[in-house]
Amino acid sequence: MTEDFGNSTVPVIAIDGPSGAGKGTIGRRLAEELGFAFLDSGALYRLSALAATHHGISLEDEESIGTLAAHLDVQFRSNPENGDGLILLEGEDVTHAIRTEACGLAASKVAALPSVRQALLERQWAFREAPGLVADGRDMGSVVFPDAPLKVYLTATAEARAQRRYNQLLEKGGTVKIDEILSDITQRDEQDQQRTVAPLRALPDAVLIDTTDMNIDQVIDKLTSLCQERLGIAT
Ligand code: C5P
Repeated sequence: MTEDFGNSTVPVIAIDGPSGAGKGTIGRRLAEELGFAFLDSGALYRLSALAATHHGISLEDEESIGTLAAHLDVQFRSNPENGDGLILLEGEDVTHAIRTEACGLAASKVAALPSVRQALLERQWAFREAPGLVADGRDMGSVVFPDAPLKVYLTATAEARAQRRYNQLLEKGGTVKIDEILSDITQRDEQDQQRTVAPLRALPDAVLIDTTDMNIDQVIDKLTSLCQERLGIAT
């Protein structure tokens, strides 16, 4: 399994890009339309950071967080009440707790630790099951699934990404300031692009899609036609 990046006969659509580019929303919808599984790799880094906090481990203690990440007790389930995704960490519902900006920043810190990235590889490969996988992250096309037949780099200006996140948080009834969101996004972009292991970057073999002036339906249309062209898969 190690050399094959999981089950190499199963097609992967790798979607990478900076935070807030819409990878999660779009990736989930695409997976649903194709009948593929979906991997939210960012959730694994968020869970590692949250587990470290719960256990009182410093975010700089690479050895302990690496061990924690290798043995994360996580269950991805469906909420019986509404069918939404439910994430349990050591039996506790952390579906919302991992989505805060603070947890995103902490995730970005632990994601810079090589032993954490290594520890999460096999867990990510296990998502590669027939008939296919849509994988969302920062290094899906470069490290985790370099053999993916379709790689996409989804991006948008930092301002557009901050505005979208702001709207999402407002909808959920939160009280947030857009300039704080923009500053968190910029800080996370820098951390993700400048780290030495698996830095975020657009690969030469990825299709670059700038979603600044596109709505979700337009991005999905673009992706489904790419799937048809590159993989011969129709939705
Ligand atoms: O995608 P999401 O915002 O949930 O990711 C949280 C953080 O996890 C990112 O800022 C990034 O540092 C890290 N991450 C990563 N590699 C991935 C997915 C996420 O380094 N494949």
